[in-house]
Order: sequence, then structure tokens, then C-alpha cells
Amino acid sequence: MINMINIALPKGRLGAKIAGLLDFDFDESSRQLIFVNEAENLRCFWVKPFDVPVYVERGVADVGIAGRDILLERKNSVYELTALNAGKCRMCVCAKKDFADSGMRTLRVATEFPNIARDYYSGQGREIDLITLRGSLELAPLLGLSDVIVDIVETGKTLRANNLEVTAVISEISARFIANKSTYKFKRDKIDELVRRVSELDQNNQGI
Ligand code: PRP
Repeated sequence: MINMINIALPKGRLGAKIAGLLDFDFDESSRQLIFVNEAENLRCFWVKPFDVPVYVERGVADVGIAGRDILLERKNSVYELTALNAGKCRMCVCAKKDFADSGMRTLRVATEFPNIARDYYSGQGREIDLITLRGSLELAPLLGLSDVIVDIVETGKTLRANNLEVTAVISEISARFIANKSTYKFKRDKIDELVRRVSELDQNNQGI
């Protein structure tokens, strides 16, 4: 339906809360991936967090919720309508406590965010050897696979447990409400209303 708003929600706790707020008859255990709220003309897609901006850029979703880390990494062309408190963390460079960077040789950098790492070090004019991994990054410096990691730090617990520390903060991160650049123009009123509802929930709960 032409007036329907399509929403890409990130699979997980944050997406489930927003689905609840928007009155979707939502049951994660059903394995269903599309949920409709007929009364409000809303449809939501249950999407891997990393893929949310792709659905929105290509217009199959009008709006979505995505972490700033994912937006910086994916570089999709979407509108960032508002920053939420949810998903607050930092993108950091971390290393073993005894690591001293002489700056003299190529730095081995392990990360799940190759574009963010590349952009950060090219801004510094530093040559790096990029090692892309899919998680448990903290292992890389511990095992000598890399000198540093570029990773998300939330509470700092994982770093402390592995005797690592932050050596630089690249960026503050939180969830963003994003919109497709063309459908936003003609669905603006309804989208702005959705942003307002989600932002209110986010503020009341200090981050949904
Ligand atoms: C993320 C991140 C760190 C950890 C940071 O990993 O990669 O490992 O959370 O959180 P903390 O500062 O609160 O300890 P995640 O749990 O998503 O798993 P992953 O290692 O598989 O990416």
C-alpha cells in the first residue's frame, strides 16, 4: 500500500522494544521476519543490525534503526533523522597494556570495521596492515595476531578481563533513526510522528 511505512528493525533487544512500542503483534520465536500493524499502516522487517542501512538506502524500508558504527562502516546514503540514547558506546583503538607504538613500522590492526579503521589511520597518515575478523577481537593482540584492535567498548569489562586498554577514542556511538532519502519527502509527516514516538520512549528509558 502506498501510504504504508516500512521499518527495518535491528534483530535483538532494541528492535524488539521498538516493535512493542509500535504495537506489532511481535513474536521473535515464530521465526517470522515481516510483521504488519494494519490499523496503523506500518510494516516492520526483522533485519540483521549490520544490514539495516542497506534496506533503507535501497528504499524497501522507508526508515530504520541503526548504530552509528554501522553507518560509519557501511557509508550508505541515508538521512540520519535523530540520535537516540540507546546503544551508547565508543569506537576505540585498544592494545595490550604493555604495548608501545614506536610509529616506525606498519601497525597491524584487527577489526570488524575495516572502513572505520582505514579512515582513522589514513587521517593520521599511518600505514596499517588490516586484519578483518568477525568477533572476539580481544584475542588478536593477546595472541600476537595484531598490535591493536579497533572495536566497540561499552562498559570496558571485556578489555579489563583481557588486560587490554583504550589507547584512543575514534568516535562516540549510539543508535540513529534513519530514513530513505526519496521516500522521506512524501511520507514525511508519518515518519516524523514515528521519530517522535521512538525518541520519547528512548528519553523516558534513558536509551530504550
Ligand atoms: C562487543 C565488542 C567487545 C564488547 C565490548 O562484542 O566487540 O568485545 O562487546 O563490551 P564491554 O565494553 O561492555 O565489555 P560482542 O559482545 O558484540 O561480541 P563479539 O566479540 O562477537 O563482537
